[in-house]
Amino acid sequence: MFNLVLFGPPGSGKGTQSSKIIEKYNLAHVSTGDILRIEVANETPLGTEAKKFMDQGMLVPDEVVIGMISSKLDENPNAAGFIFDGFPRTVAQAQALDNLLDFKNHPINIVLSLIVSEDELKTRLISRGESSGRSDDNEEVITKRIKEYHAKTSPVADYYKSKNKLVEVKGEGTVETIFDSLCDEIDTIQPE
Ligand code: AP5
Ligand code: MG
Repeated sequence: MFNLVLFGPPGSGKGTQSSKIIEKYNLAHVSTGDILRIEVANETPLGTEAKKFMDQGMLVPDEVVIGMISSKLDENPNAAGFIFDGFPRTVAQAQALDNLLDFKNHPINIVLSLIVSEDELKTRLISRGESSGRSDDNEEVITKRIKEYHAKTSPVADYYKSKNKLVEVKGEGTVETIFDSLCDEIDTIQPE
């Protein structure tokens, strides 16, 4: 079993790179942003609650997100491993994930952190906003998402650094070049 966290600020390319990694390594994709957007679209009670936070560029409360993850792991008992995209986003979420995975005896193997400048993040998200239909892809909310990232999410990088699991990867350049760098890192700890 191989468990990978793809870490980075909003717009760093987590979703883009996840879909390529999943295909190559046959992992199950766990994107809390995607799960939450489905809940919002289906107008479930969870989605209605989460939407209030997402539309403001704020993180959804930990207990909501942690509950979602636990059921997602149970839904995929035969997966070769998981790629976590956009989760964990707080140290409390990282600790909860460690607890869940320790219980299953399959800890996180590596955390790949995409490094992208703030100007590039904003350019990418504003440009995506022109076609994505995502309620959080406008300049005001993008600024709040990045602020929320610095306040609550960047400490997660230190958490994994202290466990010697964090590897930083340059997240600017072509999608293919970044993908090759990510695969190089995966292959050093998980030879094909
Ligand atoms: P989430 O859906 O996770 O959004 P995010 O982290 O803000 O990040 P994005 O999905 O916008 O960016 P990405 O890194 O996936 O980049 P992408 O590949 O799309 O979360 C949304 C909200 O849900 C949060 O604000 C929060 O409210 C809530 N939430 C989710 N998870 C939560 C959690 N765990 N706890 C609490 N709340 C949670 O790329 C971005 C754009 O750039 C695309 O248009 C892409 O085509 C383009 N692009 C990608 N790579 C490149 C490249 N190399 N060069 C040029 N353009 C590129
Ligand atoms: Mg994403």
